Formats: sequence, structure tokens, C-alpha cells
Amino acid sequence: MWLKLFSFFIFVMYNSFVFSQRQEIYLKNNWLFSHEDNIINSYVDFDDTSWEVVCVPHDWAIAGPFDKEFDKQVVAIEQNGETIASEKTGRSGALPWIGVGWYRKHVYIDGKFDRYFLNFDGAMSSPKVYINGKIAEEWKYGYTPFVIDITSFVIKNSDNVIAVRLENLPESSRWYPGAGLYRPVKLISTFSNSFKEWGINVETESINNNDYTADLKLEVDLLGEYKNRNIYLNITSSDFLDLNKEFIVKDNHIIKYNKVHNVEFWSPENPVLYDLELKLIEKDESGNIIITHDTKTVKFGIRNIKVSEEHGFTLNGNPRKIKGVCLHHDLGMLGAAINRAALCHQLVLLKTMGCDAIRTSHNIPSQWQMELCDSLGIMVMAESFDMWIYPKCKNGYSLYFKDWWKRDLENLVLANRLHPSIIMWSIGNEIPEQGMANGNELARKMQNWVHYLDKSRPVTAGMDRIDNALSTGYAQVLDIPGMNYRTNKYEMAYSKLRHGFLLGSETASTLSSRGVYKFPVELRKNYQYDDGQCSSYDVEYCWWSNLPEEDWVLQDDKEWVIGEFVWTGFDYLGEPTPYDEYWPSRSSYFGIFDLAGLPKDRYYLYRSHWNKQDQTIHLLPHWNWEGREGLITPVYCYTNYPTAELFVNGKSQGKISKKHTDEMNFNNNTELLDRYRLRWNNVVYEPGELKVIVYDEMGIQRGEEHVFTSGKPHHIELKADRSVITADGEDMAFITAYMVDKDGNFCPTADNLIDVSVYGNGVFKGICNGNPTSLESFTVPRMHFFNGMLSIGIMSTNDAGEITVVAHSTGVKDGLVNIYTK
Ligand code: GAL
Repeated sequence: MWLKLFSFFIFVMYNSFVFSQRQEIYLKNNWLFSHEDNIINSYVDFDDTSWEVVCVPHDWAIAGPFDKEFDKQVVAIEQNGETIASEKTGRSGALPWIGVGWYRKHVYIDGKFDRYFLNFDGAMSSPKVYINGKIAEEWKYGYTPFVIDITSFVIKNSDNVIAVRLENLPESSRWYPGAGLYRPVKLISTFSNSFKEWGINVETESINNNDYTADLKLEVDLLGEYKNRNIYLNITSSDFLDLNKEFIVKDNHIIKYNKVHNVEFWSPENPVLYDLELKLIEKDESGNIIITHDTKTVKFGIRNIKVSEEHGFTLNGNPRKIKGVCLHHDLGMLGAAINRAALCHQLVLLKTMGCDAIRTSHNIPSQWQMELCDSLGIMVMAESFDMWIYPKCKNGYSLYFKDWWKRDLENLVLANRLHPSIIMWSIGNEIPEQGMANGNELARKMQNWVHYLDKSRPVTAGMDRIDNALSTGYAQVLDIPGMNYRTNKYEMAYSKLRHGFLLGSETASTLSSRGVYKFPVELRKNYQYDDGQCSSYDVEYCWWSNLPEEDWVLQDDKEWVIGEFVWTGFDYLGEPTPYDEYWPSRSSYFGIFDLAGLPKDRYYLYRSHWNKQDQTIHLLPHWNWEGREGLITPVYCYTNYPTAELFVNGKSQGKISKKHTDEMNFNNNTELLDRYRLRWNNVVYEPGELKVIVYDEMGIQRGEEHVFTSGKPHHIELKADRSVITADGEDMAFITAYMVDKDGNFCPTADNLIDVSVYGNGVFKGICNGNPTSLESFTVPRMHFFNGMLSIGIMSTNDAGEITVVAHSTGVKDGLVNIYTK
């Protein structure tokens, strides 16, 4: 009895006073930043008091200014078929991301713990991490998450200095990579016996759809000594009694198999996540717990993914076609510095379109983004590289590939394998080696390495030269052959491959600028206009790419095409094709949403086809065409209904229906478009009202949409994506500003300059109007509307209360919106 009481006392002591909990802290505030490049900066006693105080995630380049001289590349872009070098100005965003940046952080570390780690979720780029003046780790690829054991560098009960040197080389990227500690840094403190970072995995081995059971494989990697110790791994899950278990630990690697019952399978439609709590406990001889060494709770999902000749891609046994988009990692106005709310904002917008997947082109994703994909229900192709040995730009990843690919792939997989959202890994995008001798061997080696690290997911790669990739055997190696564009080669590739299926790993690359319409309306390849914009009639593309419909014909008519990833969900900084040589132009035109996250017309086109739940009725263009009176001004309707009638000022322009065509590509005619769009090509413009009435298959009227010719700009309207945000100094609201006339009609050509003021418990974070040719800074609260709209990013402070945002523009009434924080 006394012994028991004593043990209990010890147990309570240890648990309450001997720190049974690990500590995981995001090192967010009070980093010091400088561009000074002096090696003594890494020293502890270096005077850093004059350095800029910044918060991490941080992108040192996003404030600009934009300048064509930054990373001006005089190159021939081989991927685009160029053979002669020419000046490419905005290729990597025309922002000052090149050079050296130092970060320093003073952290007091008390002596409570035995082990200390730093987890960098990526650092752009070539990070060298010094602890108290000594180099602790070095990495190269800016997208790779890495963990450093800093235990031996730490001085306990003292101030410690973490110093990070980063360096970005010119001509090292085909897009804007961002600069600095653009992803979070975490300090992890544990006791000697602890869970290894990324060491816990729950894998779905198999599922049974009939009785809702699943076989799981649990893998746990531990740090510390376990021989001759009485240490147990205790696991509990409030959702599965079957999982509540305890095992004696004999060595550092544990594998257990378990059947679970009453499972809800994870899917985009039902993204169910479960919690698993793991504890490392030590018992005395009587079986009483004397120490809890470590505790960790992970989230996992249960789902089954498969690709097969018979069913193509299946999730939980159900065949489905992936409706995905490719995403670059930048977040427009925030640059590369990630923010959970901003990532969430993007994903939520994509979901409203019926999109169910993203491809993290062309690099290792952030943990926060993957967590959001898990919880929101978005499948992921997690990619790794844009180049291997053969360079696509002079100082790109090829400089490091040979020495680093294994480590980079390893970290990609280990850091991410627990995410149910990830359905496949990609070992590369348009890798030139696809057409070179031994390219297939390298692909096989890399794929095998990924399988070794995670046998539960298939591996893919995006191929843009399928003939070459077939002749070298590269395409044959891949678990999932991924085609980038080349819709006319799908049939041929399918017939030559053993797989019995193909993925559109990258599709469309249609070009448009939000709210810009060009006349006459005709299909145009690589077309350039004087204003540096592309037409939003969605008829423009590059010589290698196509319009959405060419992909859809394949997706819809060919069973063996397992889905697509559209290039791209959002416009991104850099790669301003077709204006690579035009200044000013510094961001892309490929997005379904613009750089500000505002939907282009194409959003409604994809939504009409992908989102089967919600009604879509969208008319284009706008109807403010002073000077076009009497001229042909085609009108398109993007809708999920098959039939519609259009009226101009009450006069019918005809009732038309979508036409089925088996046509595979445009062949200089636009007939294929009529399968998915309703087009009135001969409408004559007169100001007033455009109205469309839509009908379903039975001829029943299902809804209508109106567009009016607006009057002069009169006042600004502000709409926030969320009216309540968290008062944590991180959460963000995105506010769309619209210019409207006195009756509230949207003014689609307004370009007024607005000033933004933020009052109360929030701060201004960024502004963006989606205009690829704008040189206005994202970080100054002053910007012109682009075609009547722009977006403003506001961040909460740590104090709960209210934020008031006011947008002012000379000659019109202010806009105002309130957001609450708690
Ligand atoms: C692809 C490439 C992408 C992007 C795109 C533009 O070939 O994989 O990174 O450059 O073209 O259309």
C-alpha cells in the first residue's frame, strides 16, 4: 500500500514537476534580419541591434521595388522551344530576391530538457544554420524541410543565438522563388527518450468498404536507449477502441499492425481525420508509471488509393477523375512567406470550383498547406524537382542534384507521409533526362528510393516530350505516366504504354487577364497586345498548350485518362508568358484566379464543368463598351445547364444548346468550344442590359443572370472573405474592393487609385489588383483598381476586438468594412 502510494507520489511528481511534455514552439517573433554578409554575423557577441526586426515566415523581397534589372536573364527558354537567347525581364518576378540575407534570433533556453531540435520547413535558399557561432547544418534546396539536432550546440539556462545565412543565386529559378525564412521555424525540446521528428506514420494497408474496417500499419521511430529499460509505447485513440494498446519498447523502430472498425474513409467529400495519442512511459517493477518521457498526438486519415488498368485511379475503391490544379508556392501579395489563412483562402476558393486536387508544382510543399489539404479535403500530388542533372537555368537545382536528391526526396517523404491528402509523389517536372540515355535508369532509381521510403503511394513525373520519353523507356518506368499538354499524343502514348491509364499531370495553360476582352474574338496562340494583357474570352494559349475543352474531351470520353492538373489555379509571380520579353510584365497569365485571388471568367468555366452541386450561370464580357456601339461583341455564358437564351435590352439573341462533338482539338475551328460553352458570336453591342435565362435537359427554366452597363464610379464596396478572425497576430482576412456606380452596379473598367486605412485590432498586410503589368508595391496600402477590383490582406493583432478597414478614393464615396477578432 505504502509502496503504491509512494509510486503514485513519484508519478505525480514526475508528471507535474519533471516535465513529461515535450515543447514545440514556433519561433515567430523578434528575428533580426540584414543583408550584411559578414561571417562574424554568426557569432554570439555580434552587435545586431541595428538589424531589422521581422516575423518569420518572412520574404525579404516582396516589398520590392519591381525592377527589370533584378535577375534579368538573357536566355533561350529551351522548354518553350527557343534556340536564340533574348532578354527575359520578369521571368523570376522582377523583385530583389537575389543575394545574401542573414537572420538572427536570440532564444533563452532553460535546462529543463535533454534534447533540442530545430525544424525548418524550408529556407530560401542554401541555408547555413549556426548555433552560438558554430555551424550546425547546411542545406541547399530552398524547398526542403529539414530537422537539426542542436543539442550539442545549446548552452542551457542561457541566451542562445540562432543565425541563418541564406543565399540566392541569379538565374536559379524559372519563377519567383521568394527569399528568406519564408516558412516556419520550430524549436522542439524533448527528453532523452522521445519520438523522432517525422518518426510517426499511420499507413492504410487495406480497407473494406462493406464492413467499414481497415488494416493499419503503425510505424514509430524513437530516439534514446531502450535496452534493459521498462519503457512502453502507449497509444490511444478516442475514435478507435481497437487502437488503445501498449507495447514494451525493445528498440528504436516499432512496427505494429492493427485492424480498426467503424471507419469513415477520408475523401475530398468527407475529409475525416482521427487523432492518435502516443506516449512513451516508463514503469517501475510493479507496473506503475514512473515517468512519461514523451507525448505526441498526430492526426491521420484512413483511405485507400490505387491505380490500375481496370479502374484507373480509385479512392477507397471508387474510380474518380482527378479535377486538379497546379499551384506555385507564392501567395501573390504575401510573396513566398506562407500564412495559414492565405493558404486556406486559396484552397477554399478552389473547392468552390469543384476542384479536388492540387499539384505542388514544382517543389516540396509546406506542412501547413498539407495540413489544410488534409482537413479541407484536397488531394495532392506532392512534387519534388523541376530539374535533375541537366539544367533548365544556369544556377538551378542541377548544381546540387547529384549530391542532394536522395536527401531531398527522403525529407519530402518523411515529413509528409502522414498526410492522407497526398495521393502520389512526383519525382520531377519536364525533366530533360526524359529524352536522354540513362534518364530511365535515374527515374527508376529515384522511384525505387521513394518506394523504399513509402510503399503506399504511386510515383509520377510530368512529361512534355512523350515521344522521347517512350523511346528512352522513361515513361514506362513510372507508376503513373504523367502527360504535360500534347493532347494530340494521348492516344499514341496510351497505346504504347503497359499501364492502361494516363494522367494529365499538367494541362491547359490557357492565358487570360481578369476583365480584359480583346476583339475580334478568335483563337490566338502566343499572341501579344500592346498593353501586355491577354483576353478573358478564354481563347488564347501558347504553342505547346491548349484551351480547357481540349482536355475535357479526353477526360470525358476516354476512360483511361485518370484526371488532370490545370496550369494553374492562381496566377503566380514570374513566368509572364507570352510576355517574357515585355516590360513591365512580372507575373503569369495562366491562372484560373488572378494574382490577387480574384476569379477570372475561366473560374466559372471550370466550375460549370467540375462543380456538379452548385449552379453556375456566368456571362461575359462586361457590358461597358463605349465606342463599340453597333459592333459585334460576342457574349458567352458559362453554365452547368445545357441550354440558354440571351437577351440584349429585352431582345432575344436566340436560344442555344451545347453541342456534342467528338472533335479532339481545335484544328483552326472553334466548334469544340460549343460542347462546353454557350456562345452568341454575333451580338451587336448597345449599352443597357444583358440577360441570360438557363434551361435544364427537360427544358425547365433554372435561373437567370444579368449584366448592366454601369454609370460613373460612385462608391467603393468592400467585402471580407470572413467577418470573424482569430486574434492571434497571424490570422488574415481578405477583402475584395469593388468600384460601383450610384445604383450599385459594378464598374468593370474602373482604375481609380485607392488608399487603404486600417483601424483597431488589425494591421495592413498587403494589396494586389491582379494586373500582371503593375509595378505598384504589394506592401504599401495604396493601389489602382484593375478593372474595377482589387484585394486587400488584413492581419489580426493579438488583442481581440474589431478591425475597421476604409478604402478611400478621390471623387467617390469611401468603402468601409468591419471585421471582428476573438
Ligand atoms: C510547363 C512547365 C510549367 C510552366 C508551364 C507554362 O511546360 O512545366 O512550369 O512553365 O509550362 O505553360
